[in-house]
Amino acid sequence: MQTHDSLSAMVQLAAETRAAGKTIGFVPTMGALHEGHLDLVRLAAKKADVVVVSIFVNPTQFGPNEDFDRYPRDLEGDLAKCETAGAHHIFLPGRGLIYPHDYSTYVTEESVAKPLEGESRPQFFRGVATVVLKLFNIIQPHFAVFGQKDAQQLAVIRKMVADLHVPVEIVAAPTARDPDGLAMSSRNAYLTSSQREAALVISRTLRQIESMVAKGERRAERLVAEATHILADERRLRVIYVSIVDPATMQKQITVEPGNSLMAIAAWVDQTRLIDNILF
Ligand code: PAJ
Repeated sequence: MQTHDSLSAMVQLAAETRAAGKTIGFVPTMGALHEGHLDLVRLAAKKADVVVVSIFVNPTQFGPNEDFDRYPRDLEGDLAKCETAGAHHIFLPGRGLIYPHDYSTYVTEESVAKPLEGESRPQFFRGVATVVLKLFNIIQPHFAVFGQKDAQQLAVIRKMVADLHVPVEIVAAPTARDPDGLAMSSRNAYLTSSQREAALVISRTLRQIESMVAKGERRAERLVAEATHILADERRLRVIYVSIVDPATMQKQITVEPGNSLMAIAAWVDQTRLIDNILF
């Protein structure tokens, strides 16, 4: 496995790999890697000849009062994990390479990005779409893998790729969970054991709603009301949103369409913002 921090190294890698008729699979990350990230790398390794992982804590997707400065960083651990999971190349760009001082071009998707996360984090998807398109242009992958854990991010990237004719296939990987059900997240590192206990109500709620749907309940209003009721039992949790949406457009649904519905939850556990979702 090799690490790279220059544009020229990546462009050369893309040119040589493509000239040899090999496929490039790409996994963009912000580091502090856990098994969820590694599932993405393993999936890429199954499908591609050459697997590139990027690690870049992207400043433009963080709001002014968010956790950019304290976002967990563990480069040495990340490199060891990537190697075990089957990555061949790690791209570690400096901030000045991605955003030189005179940087002024941004990508804004104006529909899928609006509700849910977009409401409470107005800068978020502009930062994500911008850095992902830049990384696609630098790495020139045949496909890139994104986690279902960040369902709206996945939908925004799919929309950007379709709207801008970006020649990259988007592959989704299922949400990896700890044995207790908590969706894995780099931000879980912020949680104390009692906060973690409180956070478990989110995945418990999603499972409960999933079983109501399996038993035939289709009314989104009823399902959202029940989820809100379960979440309210945990007083350390402050719900930001609970919603049932179309997984491609993120528009609210009135009636669950089995196979094409998503319940998304965002909540604060004290100072930590968590998201989770389930498809049904
Ligand atoms: P990051 O939070 O590091 O996540 C990198 C990728 O891992 C994303 O595609 C995310 O959905 C996926 N992922 C995270 N937790 C997961 C889990 N429990 N199960 C499955 N996949 C999971 O998402 C970002 O970084 C950034 O926004 C990025 C796309 C890199 C742009 O900066």
